[in-house]
Amino acid sequence: MASTLNSPSSLFTLPISSIQTPFLPKTPELGKKKPFNLVSKRAVSCKANNGKQNNDDSSSSLGSFDRRDVLLGLGSLYGATNLVSDPFALAAPIYAPDLSQCGDATVPLKKSPGTNVSVHCCPPISTNIIDFKPPEFTKIRSRPAAHLVDAEYVEKFQEAIKRMKALDEKDPRNFTQQAKVHCAYCNSAYEQMGFPSQDLQIHNSWLFFPFHRLYLYFYERILGKLIGDPDFALPFWNWDSPKGMTIPAIYADSTSSVYDAKRNASHQPPVLVDLDYSSDKNLSKEEMIKANLCVMYRQMVKGSKTKTLFHGKEYRMGYAPDPGAGTIENGIHLSVHKWVGDPTQPLKEDMGNFYSAGYDPLFYAHHANLDRMWNLWKTKLPKQNTDFTDADWLDSSFLFYDENANLVRVRVRDCIDSKNLGYDYQSVNIPWLESKPTPLAKSKLVAHRHSPGQAIAAEANNIIATSTAFPIVLDKPVRVEVPRQKKTTVDDDEEEVLILQNIQLDRDSSVKFDVCINITDTDTPVGPGDSEFVGSYTNIPHGHHHQGSKLNTYLSFPISDALEELELENEAKIVVTLLPKEGEGLVSIGNIKIDRIRD
Ligand code: C2O
Repeated sequence: MASTLNSPSSLFTLPISSIQTPFLPKTPELGKKKPFNLVSKRAVSCKANNGKQNNDDSSSSLGSFDRRDVLLGLGSLYGATNLVSDPFALAAPIYAPDLSQCGDATVPLKKSPGTNVSVHCCPPISTNIIDFKPPEFTKIRSRPAAHLVDAEYVEKFQEAIKRMKALDEKDPRNFTQQAKVHCAYCNSAYEQMGFPSQDLQIHNSWLFFPFHRLYLYFYERILGKLIGDPDFALPFWNWDSPKGMTIPAIYADSTSSVYDAKRNASHQPPVLVDLDYSSDKNLSKEEMIKANLCVMYRQMVKGSKTKTLFHGKEYRMGYAPDPGAGTIENGIHLSVHKWVGDPTQPLKEDMGNFYSAGYDPLFYAHHANLDRMWNLWKTKLPKQNTDFTDADWLDSSFLFYDENANLVRVRVRDCIDSKNLGYDYQSVNIPWLESKPTPLAKSKLVAHRHSPGQAIAAEANNIIATSTAFPIVLDKPVRVEVPRQKKTTVDDDEEEVLILQNIQLDRDSSVKFDVCINITDTDTPVGPGDSEFVGSYTNIPHGHHHQGSKLNTYLSFPISDALEELELENEAKIVVTLLPKEGEGLVSIGNIKIDRIRD
């Protein structure tokens, strides 16, 4: 099995089934003095996993008794008092993992579905953990757009990466070690502290932006240290601007230390990135630019109007992984991963799979731009967005090795303002702020299309009766009539969302489907530039030790603007169309509903 994989070949070992997962909870690094004696066998049973608790948008992800038992156990560990009177008042952030308990990571094997291989991506162990302190700096480092940097910068950057690659392979700052950090945190090398039956996963939840911000922060500090330049700042891949839409030249130069051979050969410059990628489209350069800008507007402006829509769903101690990604994470983020990855590699390495993504230096430029989106979301959008203030989010923590190879524990609250970390982004145009989608052009409409303002008749032959049809297997385009409550008041803080519940699929399947409203036929091409298109769901294969091979997740699509643009605000039913784009028949949807949410 291992021989079918060749990237990074030396990493593969035994099939996952041969790994013994210790049942007993791990010793937390925060409190070695106290054992987890309150964590009962029942409390850590697997009954809450396999995504069952992800079925809806209710916030409790674990049976309350189970969770309380564990929280009590952890409470004594973490020095909480007053447990008896109010056990539920205990904070339950996701704690940094115990590196000494790191196990092999799980990578689903595409060629034989249901089979996993194991990858070693554990970091070196250090028993000395330092709590993060904000760095001292005299000036804010400005991360430059990768297509705008000068020769001097390129030389420095390439030299830094070269030195990172040349470090001893056991040095946690070594290039490969750094790449493995991503693999460990997202292919279930770690279990949740106190919940050995739940994998620790930093994707598909509100940990996505902070984790990757901190990961890049330490990466950047290491590079700066290696070239003796504490002001060194990582470049960002400015894919949201027409001139930045190809793989930046510095990364495409095959003689460069930041080149990676494992990329899609037909996506080299001057081919433009597709921010809504499932398979290659036949668009002209101008059409692709326009489509990309619309995707940007759709996901950043329309699609990220609440904290949860932007950041992703809450993920607290004891919750099953993958509660639900934010709009950008599931959208542009995954599209670019897939677009860059090499389709001729077994698992679309490097960028096309999380376990290997960190081996491509372009990964860090991609994520720098995503990180920049977090800053833009708070400063440049029509709506004044702010981050969560939930202590469980703020106190979630991770471990990274810093530029001096010290192991540092850092919390989400340490990173919510990038300026506190000493960096910001070069200010460049944001052309997509004006790229508002419009209702389907008349020329595209089919003959019998109803005029805007008139909901499509329910009798249309392929509409599925909502009450009986679920779960729906997406093996062909599916249309569903979904009831909604007419809007009676205007409330700007409220967003109407289309919610797909119990999205079920194999973790190792590549899946993408589009979601549209109010279209009469499934043959008219609908894309991100059209008001009718409300978003997509994408899965990149990723493994889990404990959660089984099934992924059960949830996604909400904001539709307030679309309803307004299509003049459907007074309709009591909306026709929703799901259009499979990749992995037909591999995903089923448990329910679709329309709701209103606010932060
Ligand atoms: Cu941690 Cu883009 O993935």
